[in-house]
Amino acid sequence: MGIVRLPLVERLPIAVLVSGTGTNLQALLDSVHGREAEIVAVASSNAQAPALERAAGRGVPVRAFPRSEYADRAARDEAIASWLHERGARLVVLAGYMELLGDAFLARFPGAVVNVHPSLLPAFPGLHAVEQALDYGVKVFGVTVHFVDGGVDTGPVILQGSIVLEDPAGPEEVLAALRPLEHELLPRAVRLFAAGALRTDPANPRRIATGHAAG
Ligand code: GRF
Repeated sequence: MGIVRLPLVERLPIAVLVSGTGTNLQALLDSVHGREAEIVAVASSNAQAPALERAAGRGVPVRAFPRSEYADRAARDEAIASWLHERGARLVVLAGYMELLGDAFLARFPGAVVNVHPSLLPAFPGLHAVEQALDYGVKVFGVTVHFVDGGVDTGPVILQGSIVLEDPAGPEEVLAALRPLEHELLPRAVRLFAAGALRTDPANPRRIATGHAAG
């Protein structure tokens, strides 16, 4: 009988960009970190972000890139991209990163930047998505995980989830109801990416198939 070789477990090195509380980062730390993926860097636009403590507490390298320390956004983007490359990141996850990333950053990680947004895109892109949805009077709220392109929340959709809230009191209630969806969908998207299961339809690059890769 020949030697049985166990397959090497390869974890996808990922970086997470944050600006605030970091509950989505926490979901990634709790579900995919050390399993399908390894969070190799957490970068924040804000040195005071509680998200940084969550990562540092798990031994993940963290670094803040405050706007005031760079000449402009492009210079900051460049510094972040270089650090993430040094750390070996192959996927960049925006988890409450409240800044836009320029084309030069996206070109450093082609097809490998994803974001979680608290609306059913293409409805209500940009800031204050939940407030926009409430103002519009919708009854179905949702979450979108999507690839990031040069626009504001315009990239191809990877996963979406929704909930019906017929009479929500305000944004806090909606956000609280959406959190569990975000915390399920973002790690799921990372797992699918790590498994090579996300496929772009050549006939329509907006359509992302999430079926598992054959073989
Ligand atoms: C989430 O609602 C996410 O959809 C949005 O920013 C928020 C981040 O929350 N992009 P947290 O910092 O992960 O708790």
